[in-house]
Amino acid sequence: MFQYSISPTGERFQLPEQEDYSKEFSRLEDVVKNQRAFGREIVLVMGLGFVGAVMAAVIADATDEKDNSTKFVIGMQRPSTRSFWKIPFLNRGISPVSSEDPEVPLLINRCVNEKKTLMATFTYEALKLADVVVVDVQCDYLKEALGNIQDGRADMDALEESLEIIGQHIGPETLVLIETTVAPGTTEQIAYPIIKKMFRKRGIQTDPLLAHSFERVMPGRNYVSSIRDFWRVCSGVNEEATRRVVKFLNEVINTEQFPLTVLDRPIESETTKIVENSFRAAILAFLDEWSIFAERNGVDLIKVIKAIKVRPTHSNIIFPGPGIGGYCLPKDGGLGVWADRHIHGFEDDIFKMTPLAVNINDTRALHVAQLTRDALRNMGRPIASAEILVLGASYREDVGDTRYSGSELIVRRLTEMGAELRVHDPYVLHWWEFEKQDEYPASSHSLKRFFRGQERLRDLRVEQSLEKALHGTDAVILAVRHKHYLNLDPDEVVESAGGPIAVIDCFGILEDEKIRRYFELGCEVKGLGRGHVKRIKDQVREGKPPLPLNIPMQFAEDKR
Ligand SMILES: NC(=O)c1ccc[n+]([C@@H]2O[C@H](COP(=O)([O-])OP(=O)(O)OC[C@H]3O[C@@H](n4cnc5c(N)ncnc54)[C@H](O)[C@@H]3O)[C@@H](O)[C@H]2O)c1
Repeated sequence: MFQYSISPTGERFQLPEQEDYSKEFSRLEDVVKNQRAFGREIVLVMGLGFVGAVMAAVIADATDEKDNSTKFVIGMQRPSTRSFWKIPFLNRGISPVSSEDPEVPLLINRCVNEKKTLMATFTYEALKLADVVVVDVQCDYLKEALGNIQDGRADMDALEESLEIIGQHIGPETLVLIETTVAPGTTEQIAYPIIKKMFRKRGIQTDPLLAHSFERVMPGRNYVSSIRDFWRVCSGVNEEATRRVVKFLNEVINTEQFPLTVLDRPIESETTKIVENSFRAAILAFLDEWSIFAERNGVDLIKVIKAIKVRPTHSNIIFPGPGIGGYCLPKDGGLGVWADRHIHGFEDDIFKMTPLAVNINDTRALHVAQLTRDALRNMGRPIASAEILVLGASYREDVGDTRYSGSELIVRRLTEMGAELRVHDPYVLHWWEFEKQDEYPASSHSLKRFFRGQERLRDLRVEQSLEKALHGTDAVILAVRHKHYLNLDPDEVVESAGGPIAVIDCFGILEDEKIRRYFELGCEVKGLGRGHVKRIKDQVREGKPPLPLNIPMQFAEDKR
């Protein structure tokens, strides 16, 4: 039986068979021989995900002062049914990640089809050909409970497996650069011994050359430049590894304008990443309680934040939206807390703020379900069997990344409450967290297990036509600040829906005139941190009566 990997566009690719591996390696050997003749260094990027795919292209695009390409890059991706399609895609010059940054497809196409400095493969044997290996595989943190990060553990399986494979194949002089965000201590206390053990088994007596330099990539409008034109931190396990990683990063990253920070030990580079993301998680979590305060007391937190931001010392205050998704912020604090006990062996519990911040962020989206319920109740409509449209499945604006998005929690809670959910997202073709909820992100690790009545969500499909998605809906949840949602016209929304609806603004998307217009149209509006909507509603009710739009009485009346 052949196995297939299906791309997000629906194309089927047969997974390689045993005999394909030796053919593939011979092909690579020939290519690499030619590339070495050009004097190019061979770099293997392991893991073609959100980070690896674009990092591979950034490296492949590197040139010297005479504008000659200095690197040939082999992107290596394990041939799983979920990810194998990325290899044929990349080999055609098509980006396996979708984003709003027009430079991503241009860069990948240029490196694959014009410069011919980038290709992808499925065989681990490619590691034998590499001068540098860049590790961009995932390192997850598995949570056993909703809103309690301490009940969980780092999942290093993919990373440890990758390191073992690297140790089995690379040459003694190969630099291994770990870019994966890891539990602090991993490079020296986990990766180094794994590779060293493999070296000794193979009779290699030298020590592995290992370094850590984490990614600060933001997969949005500035995806490429957030990798190439941004400050990096790095550190090697010894002097030679440090010298090599500094040389490599100077050759591929714009370190002239964005100088490198070189730290003494990899644990310091690893800790930098965890602390910077925990700091971010904490400033976001901090506003959760003020967001609820604002809703209760007639305050528009969006305006409060704008007012605070003018102070240069407070300019990074940021409104949290419906939870803090993405791959990094929900897990990175957990990796740090876990490392203290499980890598370094401390029994006491020194962490208070980091777990609290992650826990608050992990459950913030549940409040959106309450707001939706209340808004519909004010319109005399029960939440059970209400048709609810969620606008945006991604965790942030203008990307197609749904990992740990607040929208997932909103859909799950509202489904539990009996509502019928639909979703629109211009960047997402398949919302795998639902379509494959029994095996994604890992078997038995779907958030599904924290809610009841989730089975039918397997059939949830992402609607691509906004107009179709709006038709006949009772409530619209503005969950993500995708550019497509910023200027929606209330009259058109209500017309497409076929009458007044509940509108829930999770991200400060609606300006006051729009909120006012929705009320004039007989809609109900609520929003995270937007306590002032009640004032606008009262003004509309007291001043101008709602426009005559054929609104049934019970919808127009506030039941509270
Ligand atoms: N996504 C972001 O915005 C972001 C930002 C900064 C840092 N990071 C960090 O970068 C790392 C990678 O993140 P990502 O978002 O690219 O993850 P991802 O899940 O999108 O990609 C990981 C890839 O590695 C592949 N892989 C796993 N094991 C492998 C193996 N043995 N051989 C070859 N390939 C293998 C997976 O199939 C997958 O394609 C993580 O540590 C993450 O925390 C991510």
